Parts: sequence; C-alpha cells; structure tokens
Amino acid sequence: MMEPIKRIKGTDDILPPESATWQYVADTIRRVMSLYNYREIITPIFEYTELFARSIGASTDIVSKEMYTFLDMGERSLTLRPEGTASVVRAYVEHSLSVKFPIAKLYYIGPMFRQEKPQKGRKRQFNQFGIEILGTDSPYADVEGIILNLRVLKELGITDTHLMINSIGDPNCRQGYRRALKEYLQPRLEKLCSDCQLRYHNNPLRVFDCKKQSCQAQLEDAPVMSDYLCDDCRKHFDKVLHILDKLDIEFSINERLVRGLDYYTKTVYEITSTALGSQNSLSGGGRYDILVEELGGKPTPAFGFAAGIERIIMAMEQSEGYETPKPQLDYFIALTNDEILTTAMEFAERLRDKGNSVNIDFRGKSLKSQMKQADKLGAKRVVIIGDDEFSKGVYLLRDMETGEQTEIPLSIIPNTDK
Ligand code: HAM
Repeated sequence: MMEPIKRIKGTDDILPPESATWQYVADTIRRVMSLYNYREIITPIFEYTELFARSIGASTDIVSKEMYTFLDMGERSLTLRPEGTASVVRAYVEHSLSVKFPIAKLYYIGPMFRQEKPQKGRKRQFNQFGIEILGTDSPYADVEGIILNLRVLKELGITDTHLMINSIGDPNCRQGYRRALKEYLQPRLEKLCSDCQLRYHNNPLRVFDCKKQSCQAQLEDAPVMSDYLCDDCRKHFDKVLHILDKLDIEFSINERLVRGLDYYTKTVYEITSTALGSQNSLSGGGRYDILVEELGGKPTPAFGFAAGIERIIMAMEQSEGYETPKPQLDYFIALTNDEILTTAMEFAERLRDKGNSVNIDFRGKSLKSQMKQADKLGAKRVVIIGDDEFSKGVYLLRDMETGEQTEIPLSIIPNTDK
C-alpha cells in the first residue's frame, strides 16, 4: 500500500460538524458588518512580495522570517499574504476607491499564511476577519472599529475579553522615543537575545514584542511612549480614551503594546481572552495614517483591525453553555428497493422545491439501518417508501420526535411549515 499523504504541518482540515461552527461564525461576522454598513472586499491570496515588505516592514518578524515567498516562472517574487491590510490598501489605491467612497468601510474574511512555529492557536494557514476604514482621522472611527470588534465577540458568546490600548505616536514623535529607548537599552545590550540585539539597531520598539523572559526583564524601567507623544497624538489618544469611557467600554492602557507590524501610527490595541493559552490575542489593530501614501496613494488616514477565527472558535468552545451546532435535516428518505430510487429522487426534488433539506441513502441497506442513519443526521421526519407502500402508491411519513406515522399518497408532498 502507498503511504498516505498528510496535510502540511500548521494547517487544519475543518470537518463536519465543526465546519457548521465556522459557517455560524462567518454568518455572524457578515451580519454584524452589515449593522455597521461595512462592505466586503475580496483580494487575491498572493501578491508581489514588495507589497508586504513595504507595508508591514522589512525588519518585522512577519516579513523577515515568516513569509511564504516563492519565485513564479517569470522569476517574480510572490508571497502568500500574511495579513489583509496591505492588500486592501493596495486595492484602494489601485482602484482609486477614494473617489467612489470618501470614507471606505471595508471588511474581509479569509486565509492568511505565516511560517511560524505551529502550536495551539498558532497556525501556518489561519483565517482572519478584519475591517479597514479609510479616509477619516476621527478618533470616533477608532472607537467604532473597537466597538464592532467587541460586538462580534460578544455575539459569538465570548465575554471574558480584555481590551488593551496604547498610542505609538507618529513617525516624528516616535523618533524622540526611539532615541530614548536606544539610550536605555544600550548598556543592557549584552543581556538581550541575538534577535533583540538586531532589533536594537533596526527597530528598537520591536524589543517589546520579544517573548523571552530575559529580554522582558531588561525592559522593566524602560521609557514609555506616552512621555514622548506630540500634542496632536496626545490629543487623539486622550479623545479615544474619553469616548471609550463615555461608552462604558472597559480597557486598560498597556504602555508596552507596540504590535508586530510597522505601519501603525497613534492608536494600537489588542483584545485578549483568558480562555486561550499563551497565544491569547484574539484580535488586534490600530490606526495607520501614512500607509496609503507609502503605497503610492494620496495621504489618507485609516484605521483597522483583524481577528483570528481559529482563536475565536477556541474561545467560543471554552465559553459557558457552548454547544457544537447540531446537524439539521428536514427529511430523510428511506426505501427498501433500488427500483424505488427514481421515485424517491423525484419526491426529494419536490420537497427541495419547497425549501426542505433532504437526504437519501443510496446504499441499499436495511430499513433499520436507514432509520439509524436518519437519526444520526438529525432528520426531523422520515419518508419511508417500502415495497408494500410503493406498490400501493403511498409512503409513510414518520415524525422522528413523536414517533407518529401517517400513510400518505405519493402524489402529495407533505405539508410542513417550510
Ligand atoms: P495581527 O495582530 O498580526 O494583525 O493579527 C491579527 C490576529 O490574527 C491575531 O490577534 C490572531 O488572533 C490572529 N493570528 C495571527 N497570527 C496567527 C497564527 N499564526 N495563527 C492563528 N491566528 C493568528 C494583523 O494581521 C493586522 N493586519 C490587523 C490590522 C488590520 N491592523 C489594521 N488593520
């Protein structure tokens, strides 16, 4: 026998019945998006590598070591998207969406790819949903994004969430902070891991992202960005916090929150859940007021976030009262003879015309085993067409809940509430 081929490490097959949970999550996301009048954007799964290098930042972990990059036959460097924002902004510029939509409110759902070390909640192919709002620098837009994010989680039954927020300023005021942070880190350089020593040179704020306890220990008395914010950034941040307060949204300020992508300005945030283990970030995002320009568009302030669907489902499964959606089937058609199949299929089509879901077992098994199968599939009713019934031109309609059985002529389609 040939060795079976396995799936790639860090990828998942989503099988029934779990796939029903996925559908439910996607339906909920789409419903909430429409409540806020966001519209779906679908961009390609792969892009020119340069798009990600220019937007996410060449010195980030994502770009420097996690991307699935390959040359196509024309020797062009392409990359499977590690996130959605870069593609959305590329499409926004490429199609001049600002003309049609002075404020573009877009959302997406789909797979992303990062070559990380797989573990619980950390996949190489994972799914995100996210929003991008382009064309406004209002702090109210930041808060609307955060509220939308929280609402999706709440409607999915995830309540043990924690919102952490920070401001990383703009490139000007961040310059002063970078300098102060480097000055602080310089005498501690030898105690940092080799990755952080590189970060010190390329992008010192990234040291905050390091997972190593020894590096975190060195940061204990590090200067904080809030002491370096310029007036404009300070005002924006204060306003965001004020609106959150007014709307009774609980949050904590985390001065060490810098996010793993370089395009952010001003507000950054993350929502975590205690239901998750070490990969506890459900979603994250923030403002990116210079990215559109950096990707060749007109200066356009913007805000967005993305959430990991695998992690959302993990958190849902941990939440109180969670049940995997039960299989649903309106009718199962059981028959005793292959010759009845054509009639059964015609009957099934007429039921489907009325919007019923119908399953027929083609395997010619005993009636008893077909009834078992109907039960497993969660059928509400079974249409039984045995040899006797067939010759009399009737069928038995069995209500699976009450066990009640009625004989009805085959010419009559059951009159149910569907
Ligand atoms: P991110 O923080 O890199 O942000 O990813 C957002 C979410 O995607 C994370 O909070 C996590 O739930 C999920 N995620 C990330 N990596 C993995 C992984 N390897 N396995 C499973 N889930 C994962 C962004 O991607 C930004 N584009 C968000 C954004 C949109 N900012 C502005 N607009």
